[in-house]
Amino acid sequence: MNILIIGSGGRESAFAWKLAQSPKCSNLFIAPGNAGTGQYGKNVNIKVNDFAALGDFALSNAINLVLVGPEEPLVKGIHDYFLADEKLKNIPVIGPQAEGAQLEGSKDFSKQFMFRNNIPTAASKTFTLDTLQQGLDYLPTAGLPIVLKADGLAAGKGVLICTTLEEAQLELKAMLADAKFGDASSSVVIEQFLSGIELSVFVLSDGKNYKILPEAKDYKRIGEGDTGLNTGGMGSISPVPFADAAFMQKVEERVVIPTVNGLKKESIPYKGFIFIGLMNCGGEPWVIEYNCRMGDPETESVMPRIESDFVDLLLGVANENLNTVELKISPKTAATVMCVAGGYPGEYVNGQTITGIENVRDSIVFQAGTKSENSEIKTAGGRVLAVTTVQNNLFEALQHATADAARIYYDGIYFRRDIGFDLI
Ligand code: AMP
Ligand code: GLY
Repeated sequence: MNILIIGSGGRESAFAWKLAQSPKCSNLFIAPGNAGTGQYGKNVNIKVNDFAALGDFALSNAINLVLVGPEEPLVKGIHDYFLADEKLKNIPVIGPQAEGAQLEGSKDFSKQFMFRNNIPTAASKTFTLDTLQQGLDYLPTAGLPIVLKADGLAAGKGVLICTTLEEAQLELKAMLADAKFGDASSSVVIEQFLSGIELSVFVLSDGKNYKILPEAKDYKRIGEGDTGLNTGGMGSISPVPFADAAFMQKVEERVVIPTVNGLKKESIPYKGFIFIGLMNCGGEPWVIEYNCRMGDPETESVMPRIESDFVDLLLGVANENLNTVELKISPKTAATVMCVAGGYPGEYVNGQTITGIENVRDSIVFQAGTKSENSEIKTAGGRVLAVTTVQNNLFEALQHATADAARIYYDGIYFRRDIGFDLI
């Protein structure tokens, strides 16, 4: 089979690493990929939102399956684009159509979906510029802290947690009246704060059947001890020690099944990943958000724990017979440490030469923000490399991942040495 992965980050590197191991995958392409994905397949210089060029490439290279990594092309309708074209419509795309991608593309859509389907989530109401005054009146009833969420995609920056009513009032006005997040904040969800500990649960669905992939926890803050600015993710672990069988059973019964059934009942086609951001509040799962894709850097910890052929799982989605495909998961623990550029998530420079990847002993290095230049690997983004180790327990996995990250060098390299240590 010829498979095309769309995307260029650590998540797509982990997909490529896994798919390349399948005897069923004869040719693997990654568009646009990075300096590391070239080890697993062939990079193709096409941007993730250039649907016409991706479609042409798929036809001229006899692509049999397309796996979409990031949310943006899904929300913009890449799957619909393929379905609407006579020649492309028979190439299966893994990732929902635009309607299903609204689970991530619109916070209001996802909240209404959860309310309709009795899925546990924080109470909320949605307001626009026309209803700004009602929003301001609602704020004092929401308790403190108050969570404000821009409705649309805001590159991970659209959620504000306000600790005072005054701050919430100012921010609500900034979002609705001053377009703080552009179009994304033309609607704002005001939501009750949930206190607990977060984790990410991943579901693969063919629209009728589902498989629960290994869960993971990611670490979003730049600083050790979960301090400082939010980032795209500084590391991850899988499995998550507090997500025991009893908790995961609640997740399946109260969240996963109602989500998959709700999509079916509402005639929303969904072939792809459902990333459920959950809060464990005293042993009870509450949904914080859905994403229509896998997480990054969670995928880097999840893929190495999947023992089954990943092509079979994706074909199960394409052929709507996922129930007949076996999902075998390793009981071992994966830990991922993300090496970032100095200054990230603020300003940083690109183009630093990366050395020492060959010195890594026990880990897989999934490249993220990298590019090849004059036969060197250079940094080309804030999150540069994900270093993943799989071991018998969390402590060993973390020790090896951290030790291996320290074997890599580029000017300004930074990584957290405490990923997962809160859970030991
Ligand atoms: P999101 O962009 O929806 O992933 O939200 C970003 C982060 O904000 C989440 O990962 C949570 O840490 C936090 N968050 C979102 N909603 C809530 C909530 N209702 N209560 C507490 N924290 C929240
Ligand atoms: N790691 C969180 C995300 O991918 O959105």
